[in-house]
Amino acid sequence: MNVASTPFHEAAGWSPDSWQRRTALQQPQYADAAELARATAQLARLPPLVTSWEVLALKQALAEAQEGRRFLLQGGDCAESFADCTSPIISNRLKVLLQMSLVLVHGLKKPVLRVGRFAGQYAKPRSADTETRDGVTLPSFRGDLVNSPEFTPEARRADPQRLIQAHAHSALTMNFVRALIDGGFADLHHPEYWDLAWVEHSPLAAEYRRMVAGIGDSLRFMETLAGPIAGFTRVDFFTSHEALLLHYEQALTRQVPRHKGWFNLSTHFPWIGMRTAALDGAHVEYFRGIRNPVAVKIGPSVTPDQLLPLIDALNPDEEPGRLTLITRMGNAKIAQALPPLLEAVRREGRRVLWVADPMHGNTESTSNGFKTRRFDNIRGELDQAFDIHAAAGTRLGGVHLELTGENVTECMGGARDLSELDLERAYKSTVDPRLNYEQSLELAMLIVRKSAGGQG
Ligand code: PEP
Ligand code: CO
Repeated sequence: MNVASTPFHEAAGWSPDSWQRRTALQQPQYADAAELARATAQLARLPPLVTSWEVLALKQALAEAQEGRRFLLQGGDCAESFADCTSPIISNRLKVLLQMSLVLVHGLKKPVLRVGRFAGQYAKPRSADTETRDGVTLPSFRGDLVNSPEFTPEARRADPQRLIQAHAHSALTMNFVRALIDGGFADLHHPEYWDLAWVEHSPLAAEYRRMVAGIGDSLRFMETLAGPIAGFTRVDFFTSHEALLLHYEQALTRQVPRHKGWFNLSTHFPWIGMRTAALDGAHVEYFRGIRNPVAVKIGPSVTPDQLLPLIDALNPDEEPGRLTLITRMGNAKIAQALPPLLEAVRREGRRVLWVADPMHGNTESTSNGFKTRRFDNIRGELDQAFDIHAAAGTRLGGVHLELTGENVTECMGGARDLSELDLERAYKSTVDPRLNYEQSLELAMLIVRKSAGGQG
């Protein structure tokens, strides 16, 4: 079904600021309302980061993923930081996502829809509003969009200027990603551009290179017969982030000349985090009125009675591609928590894209004080997600991962079986532990095996 054929209805009683009449969780306290108003007014005049045409193209592609004709790969950092807005970090993250998508395209035999958690992933929900160290209590660090991680009153002050800086850093990231993609970085004729310098000796890299060599041979063979094939020289990349800080999102919510309604033009694909997904909350209110495709994180405590009204609120017209549900249950809970939700959505005939986030339900702390995730739990949750969907007659249409192209040791296990002690070696995340290159490729290979119906 074509997205363009769905009639457009304005959401009743909605405006870009109507969320302000609801309870907005996880928002910083700005000390000076006038300073905030000046910053949001400045932001509202700055150009958007994406266009409505791209947003609607993504919605169409997500509609195809709902029908099983594409697979969604969504991934990137837990939180971007201004300091990490550098050439190597951005290009390495892109390389991992490109390599994973090549494994998926090759194995699944269908197009992969690539969505980065980047160019705007600067705001984080926190379990507590404040943090206490040695008797001193300060506001929690909420991401570079809000404040700074150092434990001083100045650093932790919610600074409205950061709204402008986050927009600028998102634009810098976006500009570099677009230039790399348009300039041939993603050209299938040159997958060697996607190699990461530090993974020379990985056993998985060897397997990956064999696959790439095979694809290169086929490509050359086809081009010998048919001439150059343009489609292989570039790929599409879309952006996403958790649209948490609603003042920021509101300032980038725009009308455009050629399409009706309002678009969030800070990103193609915003999502609502698990902690802010209440039906009567400000985030659901904001999201119901924008035309973007949207996603919601669904945790293990959500019941069918809560989920169905949420679907009604966010996709009342049953628009294809509009709504993605990202389940993040945890390896220990998914077998109990997921089936009733799948059953209810199937029974009601609701149209959603189901995606698995096997990261956020599997976070734990080690005895030496690191926040980590065990690769076996991540793999286990993903494995179970495929099986539970197969048993329910529904389809797992994508994955949502936290990963990096840097040589980090943040998640335990995987091809090199990283231990608690290894975490000390290269733990760089200020928030959640990310998959490194090998762990990411291993998951891509697992997805291929599971989708082919094999054992994980
Ligand atoms: C996240 O995606 O980084 C996150 C905080 O997820 P969740 O809302 O699922 O906990
Ligand atoms: Co995270």
